[in-house]
Amino acid sequence: MPNKKNPPAAPSVSTSGASTAPGSFPSVRLRRNRRHDWSRRLVRETNLSVNDLIWPIFVRAGTALREPVTEMPGVLRYSVDQLAAVAEEAVSLGIPAVAIFPFIEPALKDSTGSLSIQAGNLVCQAISAIKAAQPDLGVICDAALDPFTDHGHDGVIIDDYVANDESVEILCQQSLVQAAAGCDVIAPSDMMDGRVAAIRRCLDENGFTQVQIMAYAAKYASCFYSPFRAAIGSTAMLGSASKATYQMDPGNSLEALREVELDIAEGADMIMVKPAMPYLDIISRVKSQFGVPTFGYQVSGEYSMLQAAAGQGWLDIERAMIESLISIKRAGADGILTYFAPTVARRLSDS
Ligand code: PBG
Repeated sequence: MPNKKNPPAAPSVSTSGASTAPGSFPSVRLRRNRRHDWSRRLVRETNLSVNDLIWPIFVRAGTALREPVTEMPGVLRYSVDQLAAVAEEAVSLGIPAVAIFPFIEPALKDSTGSLSIQAGNLVCQAISAIKAAQPDLGVICDAALDPFTDHGHDGVIIDDYVANDESVEILCQQSLVQAAAGCDVIAPSDMMDGRVAAIRRCLDENGFTQVQIMAYAAKYASCFYSPFRAAIGSTAMLGSASKATYQMDPGNSLEALREVELDIAEGADMIMVKPAMPYLDIISRVKSQFGVPTFGYQVSGEYSMLQAAAGQGWLDIERAMIESLISIKRAGADGILTYFAPTVARRLSDS
């Protein structure tokens, strides 16, 4: 006879074969939620949205050019006159921001990347064209010298070494000309020490207090940048040289946390981990430790290896694209720089 102190036991069920203890087989069946598409959609923890996307765009001199990048199937280099249409496409797809990367003619490169600090250079022209066409589209530009140097490094070389402080001075000038042209976000991708603080100070002193900084905080010395270097024309310049004296060693993760901590302290508004898919653990640790706006860069090599496998018929590119991007978000990224941006945005608006 049940009483108040001893409520009735749960309705008894057949115990033949299996235990009925909560949490054990078979009362808990995780597959139940997976049975139907509507249910899978309801319980999905991570969703990809167009608001997560940053579209990296290669620009070059010339007119009426939409030049395929051989090493990156589906990616084009645009001449500046094409950028109004590109910006319009980004806005119509709902993509929040684009990131500009210049292909510079070899004859215009030199040892200090002097073109990088000239107002009106290709990057500045691209910024102006995009901002004139679509003022509400976010524009992000690298602070780094590699597209402009005849040795392909991100800084200047003194005594066979990529010199830190001398490079930072140039990066500040580069940031200033880009900000003056209307760039919304300066993204230092050079991995020099102290550059975020120096760029922040320089921007502020020149009245650009609202220009944001997205720091490539944990940027690894990675083989996955090769197709990008071909796209911006720095492969031949760099030759067999390595960026390992400034970009991070792939074996390190505690050091990535220190890099991020420093960049936040120096004034970064957003931080980035790059590449993304081989470094999901870093994205996850960074996001859980610092909780700041965190971005992953699905770099050229990540893009091209998926496209290459798809080109062989070994992968379904649509599914590989979505799964790879979801994984980066699931790891903790708030947004992703990806060459799939227009394709995935189109696919998201269709579904
Ligand atoms: C320049 C820069 C690189 C990338 C973005 N900015 C290449 C590099 O550091 O050598 C790579 C992007 C990609 O591979 O998609 N510092």
